[in-house]
Amino acid sequence: MEQKTFYITTPIYYPSDKLHIGHAYTTVAADTLARYKKMCGYDTMFLTGSDEHGQKIERTAAQAGKKPKEYVDEIVITFKELWRKLGVDYDYFIRTTEKRHQEVVQQVFKKIYQQGDIYKGKYQGWYCTPCESFWTERQLAAEKVCPDCARAVEWVEEESYFFKLSKYADRLLEHIKQNPDFIQPESRRNEMIYFIEQGLDDLSVSRTTFDWGIPVPIDQNHVIYVWFDALSNYITAIGYLTEQEKFNHYWPADLHLVGKDILRFHTIIWPIILMALDLPLPKQVFGHGWLLSKSGKMSKSKGNVVDPNRLIDQFGVDPIRYYLLREVAFGTDGTYSTEALIQRINSDLANDLGNLLNRTISMVEQYFDGVIPEAGPAEEPFDQELKDYAATTLKKVAVNMEKLKYAVAMEEIWNFIRRSNKYIDQTTPWLLAREEGKRVRLGTVLYNLLEALRIIAGVLKPFLVETPGRIGEQIGIRTMIETTSWDDLWDWGLVPAGIRVKKAEPIFPRIELDEYLAELEREDNPEQVETVDEPESKLIGFNDFTKLDLRVAEVITAEKIEKSDKLLKLRVDLGQERRQLVAGIAKHYAPDELIGRKIIIVANLEPATIFGVKSNGMILAASNQEGELTLTTVEKDISNGSRVK
Ligand code: MSP
Repeated sequence: MEQKTFYITTPIYYPSDKLHIGHAYTTVAADTLARYKKMCGYDTMFLTGSDEHGQKIERTAAQAGKKPKEYVDEIVITFKELWRKLGVDYDYFIRTTEKRHQEVVQQVFKKIYQQGDIYKGKYQGWYCTPCESFWTERQLAAEKVCPDCARAVEWVEEESYFFKLSKYADRLLEHIKQNPDFIQPESRRNEMIYFIEQGLDDLSVSRTTFDWGIPVPIDQNHVIYVWFDALSNYITAIGYLTEQEKFNHYWPADLHLVGKDILRFHTIIWPIILMALDLPLPKQVFGHGWLLSKSGKMSKSKGNVVDPNRLIDQFGVDPIRYYLLREVAFGTDGTYSTEALIQRINSDLANDLGNLLNRTISMVEQYFDGVIPEAGPAEEPFDQELKDYAATTLKKVAVNMEKLKYAVAMEEIWNFIRRSNKYIDQTTPWLLAREEGKRVRLGTVLYNLLEALRIIAGVLKPFLVETPGRIGEQIGIRTMIETTSWDDLWDWGLVPAGIRVKKAEPIFPRIELDEYLAELEREDNPEQVETVDEPESKLIGFNDFTKLDLRVAEVITAEKIEKSDKLLKLRVDLGQERRQLVAGIAKHYAPDELIGRKIIIVANLEPATIFGVKSNGMILAASNQEGELTLTTVEKDISNGSRVK
């Protein structure tokens, strides 16, 4: 029987910015599905890459004093390095500057031009350079800012080639209506239908105002406008017009995974390019939500970008992958929070999974000298229940993977992990070990637990990249886990009796939030020291200073925050009101010493929740590099709430 193929893509990323955790989100999701399909026996093609042309990149490179190609070459190395660290196992990394891509895009352009679907005209309209998007008058508010990024748009007037989107609008609408899976999730599909029904304008597909692009083959004054170039990557990468056999093997793509902001390009421009080329359309385009920072969409200018490299260095790759896939339902927006990440590591990874492994391996060591016992007959109803639970979990995970419900799939796996922990409590192996004649029963219980762990390690293989092997290592079946197919997981009884387990360190050490915060402070300090080197760039205007609302506050109560050796919870009096705040001064002040003191606080800071405690303001204190710290206070008595300026 011929092996089935599965072709999945991520967007190709702009190399003008550093990749952030939002980009990692899409790519880890695609990687997980690709790994799952490979495990299920599909001939899988997983494509990612970089989108390297356009005015924005041309400008950014110039600002960095580099040629565009030199600039993107450097950035692409950092992309590949991040994917390596995240365990992203792509099959091909396409760069739009590679020769083959450029040549095929030119042929595509020429073919569509020659058949009359591209024509020369004049473009006038509003253009957002950072987003590389044109906007109609209708789409812009009175203040003429880009609806996507809120930056000013520019009026552009120039000769341009146009692609006849309008000609294909009805056919596209028909396709979308006939194929309910083509655009997912459902809500976004409806948005796209509505958008197309409003009518499609022909699309400007060339520019004359910059050079950094693929030249239009029939007119050297123009370069091809970025979306036409970028979207074609999905076919050039697998050999369209160059390796036709390979192309026919993988095309049409099974899934384009994209963020909701670029769904429109993928469900309108892209299918119409394919129709014009007489090629079949991808089976599905899935528009996922955004991973936001607490202060909104991540962007360099807002300074709220979460760096995945830093997180991987701090927490390891699997906790990050786990968090990304588990915390947010894939279709909707979600908010990244380090506190939630640490909570997940401690409760789900260290507690549920880490303890199951640790308890099981320790008992095999303690009661059977580390040698895996034979399984005897099932004696209790919960023996069968555990096996049935494993089979049901595998089924549910498979169903949810098909719908890209990663978070639900992981929840099912964790239900099975918790069920296995419960099995230990139900079977009480420590009592069996003390009773006469219960040795066979004890062996059965431990064997069942090792089997459960084998299945857990196997079912986690698409999601996590180091953990399955590490679980396998401790049981003594690393190779079996690494080579297991999805179908192998179902057979109960594959762990070989008689081999030795290997006790190792806990696979997920717990993380103390306050230690982590202290570590962050230490890491961030050097940046503060830098201000000495370039004082002029850090000067603020008087107006900026007056934005700070500094007040004299009197400490009414102070107490330690449980589980933290650094934080105190304070109640302070501000004259007109009382506030609660959290201060990282527990190592320097005992709670009692603080009561009655007059201190200075920043009263208009956004509230935060630290260790589950609301903090409504921040105290001011001076600290030096030796780690000494002293509170700022007032020299003479002055009423509570007095303004400091
Ligand atoms: N180069 C185009 C894509 C061309 S595909 C033929 C592009 N690049 S991008 O680097 O700006 O964005 C790539 C992807 O990252 C998009 O799918 C976008 O939705 C996604 N994300 C960017 N920020 C994100 C979050 N904060 N959260 C989730 N995804 C995010 O667009």
